[in-house]
Amino acid sequence: MPTTPAPPVPCDAARRRDVIAAAFALGVPADYGRTRKLPIVREPNVLASIGTDIHERTQWLAPRAARAFLRMREAARANGIALDVVSAYRSADYQLGIVRRKRQRGLDMAEILRVSAAPGYSEHHSGRAIDITTPGYAPLEEEFERSPAFAWLKRHASRFGFRLSYPRKNRHGIAYEPWHWCWHARKR
Ligand code: DAL
Ligand code: ZN
Repeated sequence: MPTTPAPPVPCDAARRRDVIAAAFALGVPADYGRTRKLPIVREPNVLASIGTDIHERTQWLAPRAARAFLRMREAARANGIALDVVSAYRSADYQLGIVRRKRQRGLDMAEILRVSAAPGYSEHHSGRAIDITTPGYAPLEEEFERSPAFAWLKRHASRFGFRLSYPRKNRHGIAYEPWHWCWHARKR
């Protein structure tokens, strides 16, 4: 039996401040949060494993989102639909690494911020967001919207508390992401 690795270490408030300052130094506009209508995202204290992703890396979500996702994946499976994971929880530190590598590859910041949230502002930091793919479709590509998995999610995801965060022409200036779903606690 393979053992589950230790969960990643979330950023605390002090580390988050440093990461956001480093992102500004890399070229994230100082008014990013306000103009993109994106809040700074706190990270969960506890993470629960949701098994491995398409690259065999263990992925993590906040416990309630993890339970909701596993239930949703099981319901999809019972309908013959595979919901495979590409990415789930990511720390602000990890997101900073993504943005840094893209800058090193020569992408300009405006281009980067259309597809990646600025470090500190990604829903993935919350442990409630998940990028989903399914066999036969390229991960993190718009073609996912033509998959049976996407049709299933549109019909059933809300029942499990998941919503599509970045539809076409969303108010955050983030490109259409049919693969990115976020769990929201129900209002009591
Ligand atoms: N791709 C989404 C916007 C993120 O980086 O959080
Ligand atoms: Zn995502």
